[in-house]
Amino acid sequence: MEENKKIIFSGIQPSGNLTLGNYLGALKNWVKLQDEYECYYCVVDLHAITVRQEPKDLRRRTLEVLAIYLAAGLDPEKNTIFIQSHVPAHAEGAWLLNCFTYTGELSRMTQFKDKSQRYGESISAGLLDYPVLMAADILLYNANLVPVGKDQKQHLELTRDIAERFNSLYSPTFNIPEPYIPELGAKVMDLQEPTKKMSKSADNPNSYILIMDPPDVIRKKISRAVTDSLGIVKYNDEQPGVKNLITILNAITGMSIDQIEKKYEGQGYAQFKLDVADAIVNELEPIQKRINEILNDKEYLESIYRKGAEKANYVANKMLRKMQKKIGFIPR
Ligand code: TRP
Repeated sequence: MEENKKIIFSGIQPSGNLTLGNYLGALKNWVKLQDEYECYYCVVDLHAITVRQEPKDLRRRTLEVLAIYLAAGLDPEKNTIFIQSHVPAHAEGAWLLNCFTYTGELSRMTQFKDKSQRYGESISAGLLDYPVLMAADILLYNANLVPVGKDQKQHLELTRDIAERFNSLYSPTFNIPEPYIPELGAKVMDLQEPTKKMSKSADNPNSYILIMDPPDVIRKKISRAVTDSLGIVKYNDEQPGVKNLITILNAITGMSIDQIEKKYEGQGYAQFKLDVADAIVNELEPIQKRINEILNDKEYLESIYRKGAEKANYVANKMLRKMQKKIGFIPR
């Protein structure tokens, strides 16, 4: 039975505090996949060091992301939950795949172009190579589906190209992974500039809600969220701020867009915003409590990531050996 399940791989970088966007856009959906698919969810710490990280922050955030995975409802019995650097095959696989990737392809990635502009002189080779490590993540588990946001679609395209190249140079080795975009993919936007994706790296903290934000902060941020002067709760592209708040309410409560529009007809934004804030607080409060409990139980956390790494190492090493053999390395 297990064998017939499609394989899913995804990961989040421990490079900043996770936002409501990570929760509604990724985690909440991952939880729905855990019965139907064989899922690998990774904390991608090797990716995080493509830009400078304070060691103690990296340590704290890595465990925090793990705790968030668990608190959001990912069952460690059903999913393989692990830390990327605990599975050396990712780094080794990335090296192999590097030799099947062109520098031209990497320098054309829009995320690389954006980031290299932002970091000026000090662009690490890791930043350029980032998508190849991501390809290794995905291909080592022979993933069929990869839940990612729009900003990662280009990286996934490259993963497919690398996989196809390897398959045709040698023999069929990798599944060609597809992006998995959930039907009602909640793309949560920046609260101050609602035409941009909500990001933990925005300069203005009013732009995002963190999973760990306390209730009063959440309420304040929602009350300050940019809307417009139309005063109509309607889901459309001319009102990106309102659209975003409707998206959030819909993703949390399951109320349809129609229902939401009807409920607030003729009422302006005041009550609507209060209700959006309430919905977020009600959703996040129990999760925050659970996150703190988990973080306080280091032994439990350790047992989860040890077990996850054991399973992931087994699967990833099998694929790595296969790659090495095809390339022509002497078996150990
Ligand atoms: N690059 C992804 C991001 O920043 C994180 C990531 C790393 C990832 N490896 C992955 C996502 C493999 C999906 C699959 O969002």
